[in-house]
Amino acid sequence: MSKVRKAVIPVAGLGTRFLPATKAVPKELLPIVDVPAIQVVIEEVVAAGIEQVILITGRSKGAIMDHFDHSYELEDTLRRRGQTELIEAIDRISEMVRAVAIRQKAPLGLGHAVLCAKDTIGDEPFVVLLPDDIIDAKRPATAQLVEQYERYGAGVVSLMKVPSEDTSMYGIIAGDRMDERTHRVFTLVEKPRPENAPSNLAVIGRYVLPPEIFGYLEATRPGHGGEIQLTDALQALATERGLVGYEFEGTRHDIGDKFGFLKANIEYALKRSDLGPALRAYLETIDK
Ligand code: G1P
Repeated sequence: MSKVRKAVIPVAGLGTRFLPATKAVPKELLPIVDVPAIQVVIEEVVAAGIEQVILITGRSKGAIMDHFDHSYELEDTLRRRGQTELIEAIDRISEMVRAVAIRQKAPLGLGHAVLCAKDTIGDEPFVVLLPDDIIDAKRPATAQLVEQYERYGAGVVSLMKVPSEDTSMYGIIAGDRMDERTHRVFTLVEKPRPENAPSNLAVIGRYVLPPEIFGYLEATRPGHGGEIQLTDALQALATERGLVGYEFEGTRHDIGDKFGFLKANIEYALKRSDLGPALRAYLETIDK
């Protein structure tokens, strides 16, 4: 079985939910405390041994690649000021991973965004991460999924139970439980209304996919919302080659949602030694 070495991260979305903040700044650079969301996600893939990241970008997303490049001007200024700790921190970002960008020329859907990576991925398995989902976990979620891929030799999607009234926000699966956290997936439906949902197990934005997914994506016609849905290609993959669902360990934050974004910031800040105690004390004062 080939090793999972590459990650695809779609970042082409316009981020309209965060306007005006996202007028000139890609939403993926909005910070979780002081770390851009995209860096939180890339640190997760690096921790899973991924060597190359393929960002599927759109217009006005150049600043994301700049974030992972060297900034000689900035490094030079910091050096002259003797701020060596900061130099190390930003140097580490540029050395973190090999990143390439591919333009998705039209917003045709998540399935189409993943298909844009076909030639760069070639004939090997890869992970997909949706950066609106950040997962706080002792063992990074991507590493958990790669482990299941190595165990079953089949594509793996991350799963989380959601309240029944929320099924229309997610891809929802039906399957057979294999053990405490693992399911054999038979059916996937993109954003069903609660009355049509086959379960309350939702697909979250982490996937390990075999290269065969590209053939299914090429054959996928526009589905929910008129877009080419990854969920529909996953249905074909599940039917013809099998697909595993894994209820990951960890807490998922939906930072594509304003309230989710605020909660993620508070939770990440509370865990930091430099901010946590003061923030906790402050929150207790506004509680009253
Ligand atoms: C996408 C997928 C959906 C999945 C969700 C997870 O939807 O299409 O199947 O459940 O991500 O966050 P989006 O939230 O991008 O509309």
